[in-house]
Amino acid sequence: MEALVSDILAEMTLAEKIDQMHGIGFLPVDGLWHTADNERLGIPGFSMVDGPRGVGIYAGTATAFPVGMARGATWDPVLEERVGGAIGREVRAKGGSVLLAPTINILSHPRWGRAQETYGEDPHHLGRMGAAFIRGAQNYVVASAKHYALNNIENTRYWVNVSVDERTLREIYLPHFRMAVREGHVGSIMSAYNRVNGHYCSANFPLLGQILKGDWGFKGFVESDWLFGTWSSDESAMAGLDIEMPAPIFYGNRLFAAVAKGTVPEETIDEAVRRILRVKYCFGLDTDPAEPDPKEVATEEHAALALEVARKAIVLLKNDGALPLDRKYIESVAVIGELADTPNHGDNGSSTVAPPYVITPLEGMRNRAGDIRVDYVVGNPLSADNRAVIAGADATVVVAGLTAEEEGEAIIPGKGDRVNLGLPAKQEQLIAAVADLNPRTIVVLEGGSVITLESWLPRVEAVLMAWYPGQEGGNAIADVIFGDVNPSGRLPSTWPRSEEDLPAFVNDRSQVAYGCYHGYLHVDREGIEPRFPFGYGLSYTTFAYAKLTLSAQTVRSKGTLRVGADVSNTGAVAGEEVVQLYVRCTGSRVDRPVRMLKGFMKVFLTPGETRRVLFDLPAEELAFYDVAVGDWDVEPISYTIHIGPSSRDLRLSGSFTVDSVEAHR
Ligand code: BGC
Repeated sequence: MEALVSDILAEMTLAEKIDQMHGIGFLPVDGLWHTADNERLGIPGFSMVDGPRGVGIYAGTATAFPVGMARGATWDPVLEERVGGAIGREVRAKGGSVLLAPTINILSHPRWGRAQETYGEDPHHLGRMGAAFIRGAQNYVVASAKHYALNNIENTRYWVNVSVDERTLREIYLPHFRMAVREGHVGSIMSAYNRVNGHYCSANFPLLGQILKGDWGFKGFVESDWLFGTWSSDESAMAGLDIEMPAPIFYGNRLFAAVAKGTVPEETIDEAVRRILRVKYCFGLDTDPAEPDPKEVATEEHAALALEVARKAIVLLKNDGALPLDRKYIESVAVIGELADTPNHGDNGSSTVAPPYVITPLEGMRNRAGDIRVDYVVGNPLSADNRAVIAGADATVVVAGLTAEEEGEAIIPGKGDRVNLGLPAKQEQLIAAVADLNPRTIVVLEGGSVITLESWLPRVEAVLMAWYPGQEGGNAIADVIFGDVNPSGRLPSTWPRSEEDLPAFVNDRSQVAYGCYHGYLHVDREGIEPRFPFGYGLSYTTFAYAKLTLSAQTVRSKGTLRVGADVSNTGAVAGEEVVQLYVRCTGSRVDRPVRMLKGFMKVFLTPGETRRVLFDLPAEELAFYDVAVGDWDVEPISYTIHIGPSSRDLRLSGSFTVDSVEAHR
């Protein structure tokens, strides 16, 4: 491969090389953004399309999967690999060769407008889910992990400068990108709009040249984010930006002039083109080009996968016994709220998908209700008739939540982030009014991340978080409500009682500073009781944990510890548990989080069944980044393993130490 690339490169003129390094138009053509073909040398161009929850709307109809955050809530990388595969297959069937996904930015604050696109707040969880998506997608096309890096605010995304210290960067904001490279073997990385430590991400040598390409050995190419994503020719080229998208403003003629002037050496251009060609030939763009094939898009198979994912993503947050509704004892259900009858599958920005249909919660309830009467009440305001229907029903299901009105991408600069974490006031009032009329009130929430719910939570019997559940969402919601599916989603972020319990979200300044502590790292450190902790979610069955074993009391710094635990289903129905492994260290010479997630596994158990769950924990995972040395350090200290069903429900614990490296030299 390298020899082939070198041979072609040797044939190319400077102009031909630079032609490879930019998109060719602001607007998509045939639903795709293109880079140029080179007919003389037979080099194919790239054809790029979004995105994270299905093929982007400008390429026409496609399957709408649940959003990334919903898929994060499945804690199921095997399933996520299938989703990546399905989206990759549809991209290819649209004639595309590069999928502009997954979004793997840390959810550092749940008010981020694009929270829904990513998988959650924890780097390990995010990295595993992202790498799985990439592996699936790259069976068909090149995946592009985005947005590198620290793109966690919408309103100021085009200009904000994020200051971050080296440790925070390496330990919190980059590990998942490293996993995309090392474990997912991602072919491409999209640089972010924002600046980091004074430089735009598209012209940021520490991020691109030093860390991504140097430290991690990334062999693919970096493309800029779209309009306003590139700001320079020389600086960007020297920093390691390989492709300017979607059209040449700073690359093209200006880059040519920079090489002619000698401010950018031709070797730098060669290095970029080598990366671009390498990906093209590795992915067979020349020998096996994508051919449009409508039969492969929005298939029944993909609809079934969208349903499976939506079911597994639903998190049961509260259940005082209302759920599941038993068809034997229920004659009528009142479904309430505007969102119950609204197709609501997420943001209207670049991640928008045009599915062939969307099953709303109301339709889903009607599809699954059997002989049960389903009445619909829009609500707000409630008429006397509405009140009678609600009071007379055996159960009520209020569908509430957010829409693209409240959260989304900053297509219009200065907009996109949420203004608070609560539901719109009208909806809170509706929930309270319904709960006053009917004691059996179930709330179904839709949205991209955290929703604070203190004012109404005690008044309702059950709450489900359904996220933006994709085209099959309504069916999945009804399946869980009627108990045909046992909920197994777990929160991929911390749900605080109020926004004050989180670090401040600063989205109105051109300068912000990020620290090490957000989400569960923050509430654990501050001793704050969250409403629902990271990793939390209920089930219709119960699970018990026993027999923790550690393969050794002492592990070498390059060794691996094997951790085992028995998990049993102690209830009456089959279900899936997400077994989580957290590590705490004692005696570190630097400030460390109380504990961090280092492993998780989703296991299916029939009633009475016990399974032994095994984790391999490489000691390297315990390292902190030693800024003075410029390297990772696995300290020879004591570590405690905690295993349990959430970050605040740690059922089993055991300790071990890491041997000092010197002792084994
Ligand atoms: C978004 C990217 C997206 C690109 C192309 C940008 O505005 O930030 O995530 O891939 O547009 O649609």
